[in-house]
Amino acid sequence: MTEHAFPTFNIARLPKNLQGTFHALYSNGNTHESYLPVNGIYHGDAREILPKIEPNSVAASVWSPPYFVGKEYEAHLTFEDWQNLLESVINLHFPIIKPGGFLVINIADILVFKDHAMPRVQADAVNKKRSPVTREDVLSAMRKYPAYSRNQLAELLNCSEQTIDRRLHGNNIRGGKHESQTRVKIVGGMVERWALEAGFYPYDRRVWVKDAAWENSRWASLSYRSVDEFEYLYFFWKPGITKYDRDRLSAGEWKEWGSRGVWEFPSVRANDDHEAKFPLELPRRVIRLLTDPDEVVLDCFMGSGTTALAAIQENRRYIGIELEKKYVELAKSKIGSGMQRRLISESQNKNYADQP
Ligand SMILES: C[S@@+](CC[C@H](N)C(=O)[O-])C[C@H]1O[C@@H](n2cnc3c(N)ncnc32)[C@H](O)[C@@H]1O
Repeated sequence: MTEHAFPTFNIARLPKNLQGTFHALYSNGNTHESYLPVNGIYHGDAREILPKIEPNSVAASVWSPPYFVGKEYEAHLTFEDWQNLLESVINLHFPIIKPGGFLVINIADILVFKDHAMPRVQADAVNKKRSPVTREDVLSAMRKYPAYSRNQLAELLNCSEQTIDRRLHGNNIRGGKHESQTRVKIVGGMVERWALEAGFYPYDRRVWVKDAAWENSRWASLSYRSVDEFEYLYFFWKPGITKYDRDRLSAGEWKEWGSRGVWEFPSVRANDDHEAKFPLELPRRVIRLLTDPDEVVLDCFMGSGTTALAAIQENRRYIGIELEKKYVELAKSKIGSGMQRRLISESQNKNYADQP
């Protein structure tokens, strides 16, 4: 792709610090056949595969990265590794997104983030005291039987070991008594910084309201914290010409979700084949809002292939990248059946249209 491919895009109107990057991107005469073919799922680390995508070719990239919440596929990452991964991936997007195109990141704050420096939360859970044993009872038993273990004290006072521990040390309401404290880690600021440093501009942010995860809420009964029930979508824009086409959605769709800051639809019920899928509706909305048919949609944390399926449904082309071989296979087989379904429905529509 050359500068010629964007005849009305005036690089001179960009901030000075971006002009050099853009010139380099447009003047590399990239006629390389070696760029990754579209409509493919590629196995490997996003950081190694993203540079193989044709520069300025992706209309929208939509993905949900590891959230640093201890899933199987991210268990090996330290917090530093996780930050480096996201920072590099965002950075590597800048050359490949087309000018005026978008990077959309679906992410959530980390609700149980270990912080070794955080003071212990001493919870006085007045409604929850089931055992009548008081701290004074425990202390006086300890004075009387200084050699007693916690277990023996519990037996003596007819309560649980946990009660003994709670009376002595207070409740550690997040995590077990020997774990460090946990707090909320807000990720939006970090993502914004990485995107700005890469050359993108924050364009929009939306909230996806999903089902409330009561069952996952270890602390719900013993704190003032809310349950996990929403995530963010951060939209970053690469400077360039952006087509505004109000016909991409119907008037009803604009009203219902196109112009709305809050999107409400359920999360995936059965995470049977992948631990953390997003529902098809999420990439589908992003794709319909930001791209035209036949444009290229990217997901570099492809997982089970949801974004590719949405792209196929909406007649867009796709590129997917995934680290785990088993998910690459899963995505490919889902895409295979998705294509089949589409071909069948197209041929049924055609037969119907052919009827006299
Ligand atoms: C939150 S999941 C995405 C799920 C996907 N949206 C779906 O609907 O199935 C994140 C995915 O990123 C993959 N992953 C983790 N690190 C990666 C890396 N460095 N490069 C590519 N994929 C990676 C994980 O294996 C996981 O499948």
